[in-house]
Amino acid sequence: MASGPHEQWSSRMAFIFAAVGSAVGLGNIWRFPYMAGEYGGSAFVLIYIAFVLFIGVPVLMAELTIGRRGGMSPINSVKKLAKAAKKNPRWSWIGGLGSFGGGLGLLSYYSVIAGLVLAYIIKAAMGVFAGFWADPSVAALTGDAANAAVRVQSAGEINGLFGEPGVMIFWHLVFIGFTVFIVARGINAGLEKAVTYLMPALFLILLVLVGYAMAAGEFAQAVRYLFEPDFSKVTGETVLAAVGQAFFSLSLTVGTMLAYGAYLPKNISIHKSAGIIAASDTAVALIAGLAIFPLVFAYGLEVDQGPSLIFETLPIAFGAMPGGAIFGTLFFILLAIAAITSSISLLEPAVSYFEEKQGMNRWKSAIFAGGAAFVIGLLSVFSYNEWADLMPLGFVGITEVNGNPATFYTLIDFTVSSIIMPVGGLLLAIFAGWVVLREDMRDEMGLPEGGIFKIWHVLVKYVCPVVLIIIIISGLT
Ligand code: TRP
Repeated sequence: MASGPHEQWSSRMAFIFAAVGSAVGLGNIWRFPYMAGEYGGSAFVLIYIAFVLFIGVPVLMAELTIGRRGGMSPINSVKKLAKAAKKNPRWSWIGGLGSFGGGLGLLSYYSVIAGLVLAYIIKAAMGVFAGFWADPSVAALTGDAANAAVRVQSAGEINGLFGEPGVMIFWHLVFIGFTVFIVARGINAGLEKAVTYLMPALFLILLVLVGYAMAAGEFAQAVRYLFEPDFSKVTGETVLAAVGQAFFSLSLTVGTMLAYGAYLPKNISIHKSAGIIAASDTAVALIAGLAIFPLVFAYGLEVDQGPSLIFETLPIAFGAMPGGAIFGTLFFILLAIAAITSSISLLEPAVSYFEEKQGMNRWKSAIFAGGAAFVIGLLSVFSYNEWADLMPLGFVGITEVNGNPATFYTLIDFTVSSIIMPVGGLLLAIFAGWVVLREDMRDEMGLPEGGIFKIWHVLVKYVCPVVLIIIIISGLT
């Protein structure tokens, strides 16, 4: 096992940009708004925020601390701390489950969706969305009839893309290619450099889009939708979805933050960083909602359409609004930036492991791991077309998951976000709360006994495991 020192983040700012870049992704701008839409708006939002605070932040602190203490790839950092506590080194499996099952599994379809985003940047810029309204079959209509007809056009556009596996594979490859390129260049010349340019651009574009939504959309209605509490809509499913979304959005449980922690200089405060990361991530999700919902409401469109909110509903609004081509293009560029600063963090854990364990150089590791994610991603691509009717677990009677046909895509997504994430989070909390030496964690966080450390320890040792066990069991039954 090679154990040479890794590179380190060159400044606190660089680390914060990288970590916020990882956290802010398709999860915030694509997934969060449609989940809020599906699960009843503000009720989901408030429960989500509670999970971020009481489950997300403690687990995030645990991952950064374990990563920095171990100073190695997620698998070996966990192993090192288990050994230091004279516990079973097989705990390293949680690092493995995360880096490979979670990280590469998630990257495989994350990249497919990010590929659709790239394709949509071009569509938006070419004025395709305005074309929906200009179509002769629509232009003759007004009001609801026009809206309905344009919806058919917009659905046709995205379904057309789904129907062309070659095109989807092309964009998937482009996106993985960018990801591999950045990761291969290393922490300082690759990841850090990319986020230093991309994150400020992301914030700027987001603010421009909110400004546009305020000026051109139904802003007040969106604010009410996201923030006016209505708990009558809360069900067990809402709670499960909210905790899954909190882990997903904060990039937890699949090794990312363990890996990023390993490059963290000793003098940077972990609890403050965790606070900044969680606050920024949540703020971006909410602001993205405030950029999207006003436009959707302005055209009387449905908000609870699920994943198609971004690719089907929003283009309708962009197609109709003044300046919609420009702002639509900016919106998809925003999504692409958010996606790439996250996908690099999904590849990094596996790459750091290959480098360390197999002594492979970074380029080889990155191409190898990225290649694996690309190939697995093909299963998701074909789930939308050639294999749309293929149910891989049909032979054991699983043909549906949460009401969706159990294609490869659905199954991989479900395994990663509904099994690996909650279970990984549970194991991580148990590891940090019960297995690792308490003193090691406190020392690494640089916190005095009591106060913040005490609160963290109680949350991670008791609250997280209990809540997660309840959620997992209720999710399985
Ligand atoms: N957090 C990112 C998003 O919201 C996705 C992501 C990146 C991620 N790295 C991760 C999710 C690690 C889980 C684990 O889009």
